[in-house]
Amino acid sequence: AHQWRGVLREYADRLDISDATPIITLGEGGTPLIPAAALNRRTGANVWVKFEGMNPTGSFKDRGMTMAVSKAVEHGAKAIICASTGNTSASAAAYAAHAGITAAVLVPEGKIAMGKLSQAIAHNGQLIQLQGNFDDCLEIARELAENYPVHLVNSVNNDRIEGQKTAAFEVVEVLGDAPDFHFVPVGNAGNYTAYHRGYTEELAVGATTRMPRMFGFQAEGSAPIVTGSVVKNPDTIASAIRIGNPASWELAIAARENSDGYFGAISDEKILEAHRILSAEVGIFVEPASAISVAGLLERAEAGQIPRGSTVVLTVTGHGLKDPQWALRTADGGEVQPTIVPVDTAEVASVLGLVGA
Ligand code: F0G
Repeated sequence: AHQWRGVLREYADRLDISDATPIITLGEGGTPLIPAAALNRRTGANVWVKFEGMNPTGSFKDRGMTMAVSKAVEHGAKAIICASTGNTSASAAAYAAHAGITAAVLVPEGKIAMGKLSQAIAHNGQLIQLQGNFDDCLEIARELAENYPVHLVNSVNNDRIEGQKTAAFEVVEVLGDAPDFHFVPVGNAGNYTAYHRGYTEELAVGATTRMPRMFGFQAEGSAPIVTGSVVKNPDTIASAIRIGNPASWELAIAARENSDGYFGAISDEKILEAHRILSAEVGIFVEPASAISVAGLLERAEAGQIPRGSTVVLTVTGHGLKDPQWALRTADGGEVQPTIVPVDTAEVASVLGLVGA
């Protein structure tokens, strides 16, 4: 029987790998592009959701990690290191486990979602909680990689971006061309950069007729690219993108200029509202950072920037099960109350409104 072989094998001719490259894969990529009728109704656009939570560790990071770890092992690495708000550490630990090497992961103390922390531990990562934020973690990871025999797998490593560009190839295969707009959440801006690179290559080989306008969104309390200056103490409920000094800042600015794109900031309240809409009306469960793509679309459509009938792709980057607590909140910030009923069919029918229906 046929199964998807992971992005290195599926896109071998588009990546810098050879017979000497060991393919360290968990079958990442090949994620669904899901039409979102509820978002069409709300925006007048033709909206598709690229659900990256369907990757093996539940986030888009796996696309880059298969490439980064395969290349690291090719070059003889016995240990990798990363800084992370959670997803990169989960992915690095899983791919290192599969390769039989060590992963050291530096995360901000108390600031990453429980699901992600559990993954890093389960996959036997050497987990260090640093008394600082993500930006501090990255600085230390870079210094360690410079001075010790450990290979850096953050997106400052170009292999990560190379692996992640394959998501754009998959979108083009399904749609038959690039979309008019592509929306992504932005933290370090590595993924924004990777999609732009993927689309640039598709245009160059004639697989597409256009460059999508690349729209990236940061949380209001962590929006350095939008404000144009480093944020010292980034803050947002979207812990994945709580980043004050993005590693791929300059590349992202270049990609925005090249694609006639846009960077915007979204409030936590709007992120959670979009999270509810995506869960309840489209049926896709994501972590809060991912919902910012949806929030960004709703805001830009409202602002009149998305012509009716435009083809829009929203990347949602991480699975909702990583950070599920947000679903248990009501729209006004309260807690969802459980409906408790005795073991009685008639009572259950009554509570469900089935009586006389
Ligand atoms: N969405 C999710 C769920 C993420 O985990 C991240 C980044 C992003 C979006 C932003 O992607 O950094 O390429 O702009 N998470 C990193 C991590 C920082 O450590 O897991 P970006």
